[in-house]
Amino acid sequence: MLSRRRQQYLDALGIDLWVSRATAVPPAADAASPAVLTPGEARSARVAAPGAPLSVPPVAPPDADAQPLWQALREEVLKCAKCPLHLTRTQGVFGVGPPRADWLVVGEAPGAEEDKRGEPFVGAAGQLLDAMLRAIGLDRTSNVYIANVLKSRPPGNRDPKPEEVSACLPYLRRQIDLLQPKLMLAVGRIAAQSLLGTDAPVGRLRSKVHHFGAIPLVVTYHPAYLLRSPGEKRKAWEDLKFARDVCQGLGQDAGSDGHRA
Ligand code: URA
Repeated sequence: MLSRRRQQYLDALGIDLWVSRATAVPPAADAASPAVLTPGEARSARVAAPGAPLSVPPVAPPDADAQPLWQALREEVLKCAKCPLHLTRTQGVFGVGPPRADWLVVGEAPGAEEDKRGEPFVGAAGQLLDAMLRAIGLDRTSNVYIANVLKSRPPGNRDPKPEEVSACLPYLRRQIDLLQPKLMLAVGRIAAQSLLGTDAPVGRLRSKVHHFGAIPLVVTYHPAYLLRSPGEKRKAWEDLKFARDVCQGLGQDAGSDGHRA
């Protein structure tokens, strides 16, 4: 049976599925809100059957020791002048989400809207990303952290230059050290290639479990690409379900080359 949340994501993606009337889920007033579970419920949900939406327990208060480190890192990023992008940006875009999130989504760089508002993925691509994440029980206010490889907008949204990536990546590494996510999702070519040190295309990197250090990393298409190429949305949905299974420990059976078993 399709959950309403998943149906909403598929709607957002523009994917039509034939669902028999007998199994269709009636609309529920509160179905769009992320589930808030007690820790006990969340533990049971974590061992739910494959294909079940990911349920993550409500985040615990941030580690008291890490809070000053997060704050110091944010301040460093906001005043960073390590590359010329600081001359053209409105502001640095640090990242958003709870400091104990299980998932880290990594994008490329702030666009115009993000540069203006100081938060990653708040434009059209961000709205699609949010819908995708919500479909598997994730959202940036409770259980997923979102950051970019570059913290400053490249003018005209051009691709980041290698020297800009080299200058900025240490900030993302420090965010990862503080966050210690269970799973990383790289969205798009720039994020995937920068994190994995490869020039392979997304089409070859997806459907596998990679690692960033010890952290499992899954690759999918960038939501801006999905907006331009709706035909690829179904693959992105498969990638999200794959990532969810990896996070739940169900993707550990991947072969030694990291392919889905
Ligand atoms: N694209 C990205 O990769 N990151 C953003 O924050 C916005 C658009």
